[in-house]
Amino acid sequence: MFLKTIIINLKKPPTILNQFLKETVNISSVYSEEVINERLSVLRVENGNGKNTFAEDVSLGLTSFPKGLHPKYFYDSPGSELFEQICKTPEYYVTRTEASILERYSEEIAQLNCDKKNIVELGSGSSIKTKYILGSFIRNSGSITYMPVDVSDIIVQSSKKLLDEFEGLSIKGIISEYEEGLEVINELIDSPKMILFLGSSIGNFTQYEASELLACISSIMNENDSFLIGFDLVKDIDVLNAAYDDSAGVTAKFNINILSRINKELGGNFDLSKFKHKAFFNTDFSRVEMHLESTKEQLVYMRDIDESIHFEEGETIHTENSYKFTDEMISELASFADLTVNKTWKDPENYFGLYLMKK
Ligand SMILES: C[S@@+](CC[C@H](N)C(=O)[O-])C[C@H]1O[C@@H](n2cnc3c(N)ncnc32)[C@H](O)[C@@H]1O
Repeated sequence: MFLKTIIINLKKPPTILNQFLKETVNISSVYSEEVINERLSVLRVENGNGKNTFAEDVSLGLTSFPKGLHPKYFYDSPGSELFEQICKTPEYYVTRTEASILERYSEEIAQLNCDKKNIVELGSGSSIKTKYILGSFIRNSGSITYMPVDVSDIIVQSSKKLLDEFEGLSIKGIISEYEEGLEVINELIDSPKMILFLGSSIGNFTQYEASELLACISSIMNENDSFLIGFDLVKDIDVLNAAYDDSAGVTAKFNINILSRINKELGGNFDLSKFKHKAFFNTDFSRVEMHLESTKEQLVYMRDIDESIHFEEGETIHTENSYKFTDEMISELASFADLTVNKTWKDPENYFGLYLMKK
């Protein structure tokens, strides 16, 4: 095993990706590469210069009105584990529906992309659903390189499992935020690639931010590349509300875990029993919102940033949006990013759609 450090000056202009804080990003990233074995290496990318740290975002988010925290901070190690548990709850139809579409159509997707030996995935998590795609591509072309990009260290474990399962697979994992990860991909790959963005993770961004992110993805695509993205579609409100407030309380634990992370990493003294999980579909914005509601008037202190935060009883911290889409919204997003939808696959109930886009 060896470690090398590489500095790249990323060329993209500043892009706004932060839904609550609207920071401007000047990127100049550094990454180190750990070669674990001949089929697996992991690149760790530092945040671009000028991009806020966890401490800065927490401070800004909790002193703003209304209070908010960016959902990317859910995914520390316990948070990633809790997300995997959410995917198994009966109410969270998103994962099993998208998995069923992938299981059914990944052979067709692989045949439509038989010229590609590189698969990039943004926000890959455990890569469980990606197995359908990887299996079909390997059956079609013998060997491929998979490049998962995720802020979470979960990449290391999930990559090891994938290598045990698939001969013919090499993995270059990238522990990074989306934008920096895309720039690294752009530096590393010059042959045709397919970029995946599953789980409707695009729904965590406002419409403006989502268009910016798609434009960023489009900017590193060539004519022969393709982009496969999963969108959760507008549906019955009761189904949506239940999916984000499961009866076993797993989503509630996931939401509240962000406060544990602040306690651990910033010396906070949040009393978790004084906050409750709230999730509801906001029809006006076509999104499920998650909040943490203070059940009492209280003062919380974070030692490492020397900040005291006052909460009124009933005041909330807005922790996540999960937009739900129509075909019209999706076409608009695609055309803003100079992409066109080539093919769509949906489940029989039209709960979820996979959209194959090209430049
Ligand atoms: C909702 S989960 C989806 C995981 C997987 N794609 C699926 O469909 O089950 C979102 C994933 O994206 C990662 N993530 C969230 N925000 C990110 C960001 N800004 N940059 C990179 N990864 C991010 C999380 O760590 C998590 O693994």
